[in-house]
Amino acid sequence: MGAGSGEGSSKPWGGRFEEEQSPLFERLNASIPFDHVLAPYDLKGSQAHVRMLAGIGVLTENERDTILEALVQVAREVEEGSFTWSLKDEDIHMAIERRLTEIAGAVGGMVHTGRSRNDQVALDLQLYLRDAVSGHQRRLRNLMGVLLGQAEEGRDVIFPGYTHLQRAQPILLAHHLLAYVFMLERDWDRFASWVKSSWMPLGAGALAGVNYPSDRKKVASELGFERVALNAMDAVASRDAAFEYLADAANCGLTLSRLAEELVLWTSQEFNFAALPESWSSGSSIMPQKRNPSGAELVRAKTAGFLARLQGLGVVLKGLPLAYDNDLQEDKLYVFGTREELDLCLDAMAAMVGGLSFHPEVARAAAEGSYSQATDVADYLVEKGLPFREAHRISGRLVAKLAAEGRPFADAGMEELTVLSPLFDEGYYEVVKLERVIAAKRSPGGTSPSSVAEQLRIARDVLNRLDSAAG
Ligand code: ARG
Repeated sequence: MGAGSGEGSSKPWGGRFEEEQSPLFERLNASIPFDHVLAPYDLKGSQAHVRMLAGIGVLTENERDTILEALVQVAREVEEGSFTWSLKDEDIHMAIERRLTEIAGAVGGMVHTGRSRNDQVALDLQLYLRDAVSGHQRRLRNLMGVLLGQAEEGRDVIFPGYTHLQRAQPILLAHHLLAYVFMLERDWDRFASWVKSSWMPLGAGALAGVNYPSDRKKVASELGFERVALNAMDAVASRDAAFEYLADAANCGLTLSRLAEELVLWTSQEFNFAALPESWSSGSSIMPQKRNPSGAELVRAKTAGFLARLQGLGVVLKGLPLAYDNDLQEDKLYVFGTREELDLCLDAMAAMVGGLSFHPEVARAAAEGSYSQATDVADYLVEKGLPFREAHRISGRLVAKLAAEGRPFADAGMEELTVLSPLFDEGYYEVVKLERVIAAKRSPGGTSPSSVAEQLRIARDVLNRLDSAAG
């Protein structure tokens, strides 16, 4: 066949063409090099479609069964790796239809009745994303469990809490780790609401609907969707679900990158609050003493990719006229990259956090040596009747004096204290004890042992909720 043969080009859609495709255009146009990962979803969608076609009498039961059997064989070949991928097939949809027809004969060509690649690919993407989301949720749950485990162990460990990366107030290590558990819970919930809002596009055809009374509800319920797309153009042209997925993933990436940064800081020689196991540290090719937190650094960096892919898809979509445009073929590049990288980052963070060993004495000394009780000294003077602003100033004067002499709060003598304010008394020495400072933060969500115990309880409930939602 080919130019001038009178039979059209060799492509399945080639009837109206005489010339063969330019090889360069074939390369530009083909999505098979990347969309082959959609195979399991495409097969699942085709099975549901074929059953529906038989249900409305468009296919006989025999035709349906022949196609379904052949689809099972195609699935097996894909799984076993014996399926032949060819650029000539253009995309996963045509590759599967080609093989289906080789196996089943001409009846295989009936699979595409009442369907366009436009609604087919939209369905594949929905199914793919749903799978991606459930994998992320499983891994998020695992990471949260690991963090909670470390928090339970660190419920008595005193840690310096920071603002501006300057030591601010003493906290419990558990308080710090629990912040991440609740941040990740929101990441999990965003993925859950993604699933709730997803819909089933098949039956839209190319853009106008199809000439058959497609039972779209049946396809939707077979494939586990609660909703069908209500407008055929919307169904084939919209990629907001993919964009939203990338946004949810990017949000999760932001959480991971902040946790990764904490790991980098904590395991540095300057902080030395924790160490990563050797199995999660890398060496230097020139400096024999180095032990680098490369895993955490790379998770931190990969978040750039999550944000870039979100932006990338947004730019692809911006200004596209309805309905399907070939630009939409590129949506998958952003989505596939993000799924793979997010799974990797979530697993890596769980392993690193689980492998952290903390250095409680070092962390405590850092909290002690930084006048992080200064706000509590001010509050103590407030209790004795001073306005907070005045109390703040006196506490600040005391810090200035002690810091200049390199002495801790506990070292201040009663005489030097009463020079600053006659309100100081022996109670001061209790006030500056770290345990007391922490115990005083008993507002809900605070760092006192009782508030942290409550947070731990809530976090355990959260994990139970996620487990029962996952079924
Ligand atoms: N490979 C295409 C994609 O990924 C499938 C849809 C093609 N539709 C078309 N009209 N060319 O978007």
